[in-house]
Amino acid sequence: MPLSIVILAAGQGTRMKSARPKVLHELAGKPLLQHVVDAGRALEPEQIIAVVGHGGELVQAAMQGQDLYFVEQREQLGTGHALQQCLDHVNPGNAVLVLYGDVPLVRAETMASMIEQTGDAAVCILSFEPPDPSGYGRVVRQQAGVQTIVEHKDATPEQRAIGECFSGLMLIRGDSLQRLVGALDNDNAQQEYYLTDVVGIAVSDGESVAAVVCDDPDEVNGVNNQQQLAAVERLYRGRQVEALMEHGVKVYDPLRIDLRGVVEVGQDVEIDVNCVFEGTVTLGDNVRIGANCVIRNSSIAAGSVIQPMTSIDEAVIGRNVSIGPFARIRPGTGLADDVRIGNFVETKKSQIGQGSKVNHLSYVGDTEMGSGVNIGAGTITCNYDGVNKSKTIIEDGVFIGSDTQLVAPVRVERNATIGAGSTITKTVPADKLTISRAKQVTIGSWSKPVKKDSK
Ligand code: UD1
Ligand code: CA
Repeated sequence: MPLSIVILAAGQGTRMKSARPKVLHELAGKPLLQHVVDAGRALEPEQIIAVVGHGGELVQAAMQGQDLYFVEQREQLGTGHALQQCLDHVNPGNAVLVLYGDVPLVRAETMASMIEQTGDAAVCILSFEPPDPSGYGRVVRQQAGVQTIVEHKDATPEQRAIGECFSGLMLIRGDSLQRLVGALDNDNAQQEYYLTDVVGIAVSDGESVAAVVCDDPDEVNGVNNQQQLAAVERLYRGRQVEALMEHGVKVYDPLRIDLRGVVEVGQDVEIDVNCVFEGTVTLGDNVRIGANCVIRNSSIAAGSVIQPMTSIDEAVIGRNVSIGPFARIRPGTGLADDVRIGNFVETKKSQIGQGSKVNHLSYVGDTEMGSGVNIGAGTITCNYDGVNKSKTIIEDGVFIGSDTQLVAPVRVERNATIGAGSTITKTVPADKLTISRAKQVTIGSWSKPVKKDSK
């Protein structure tokens, strides 16, 4: 069946109490509307139309370059009115699947099964039974089947007692679309054109309406306020964690982990509590992540251990590396296999070679470090002169004593040793000991000051 998807995203979302258009509020780091687009895309429709209105330019800007067709709804006169704006833009004869931009968790499989179960019906709706139906449109059934959908505000007390609600997903057959949607009016409590009235119109035209009940009511949760956004975030996280555990990851507490992107995992990965993953993160076999780590757009190869309280951002970490606790690995860091990064160490735009160790209290920025290097505690690469950044090069096998400053640009050659407390401004030659500090002297004539009599 040739299919067009129409996503309604023009509403202001007054109940969010926010200047931002509702569909741009983020769930797991991406706009609500993006979730809906991604799910719809999986059905490979001929076209995806997004109806925009309130904050329309912002919405279009956020969604650009995705082959979406935007239709403007200048005044937001209701969900039915929103679909009416699309009638001239839908590929003629196509069935239309309507999705709501504020129903972000819906899965492509659910939409597909809806399409499959539509049969000869002119309209097919997806319904669900939420724990609390208030606010949702109620699905009114009689023996003959679905009769109509009544919006909460228009419903009688008896109708409000109905538990089956409209999810926001509706499929309309191509040859009925113009007639049914064209017939909508706004004669109701909110004086809005309700899309949901399509059902009653089809029934009174003698057409059949199918209803598919979604088994998982969580999937079609609508987001109308901050509470519902938080609820959906929690559900999304639950889904992601579930998938990780399906892959064999040991998650210490599924309620204390946040996955805001895609996490790809190998075998026997372990994740301790309160970790946050953002963007795309890859964890190889046997990787262990300690408590309270934040990891963003990074890959960590097999056998590496990230100790607690570590932040890793845009980094590529090799095998059997140990990082932290309390380390900050910033963008552009590449750590080769067997590297050790200890507590209170910050790295940025630096490559660190195999087996090198930076174990305590150091800053390594704009640096190329070879293999087998040992960096003493408190060593700083002084990469910034207030205007420009410069590079530090540390060759294989170098040993740098504690509390050394390497004033870039500077090079430390192979197997050199630098004495503790040195400030290095010139090339350090290979294989030798270099020290730059005053000689230690003891002043024989000195005596301890004595407290003066204050009177
Ligand atoms: C709607 C349904 C209700 C259903 C619920 C499911 C109607 C009349 N009611 O109610 O039966 O149970 O969703 O979550 O459809 N929008 C526009 N233009 C408009 C108005 C809304 O594009 O003029 C968009 C909104 O941006 C939103 C979606 O349509 O993405 C739903 O609108 P909303 O006002 O949230 O409808 P509900 O009151 O939740
Ligand atoms: Ca809604």
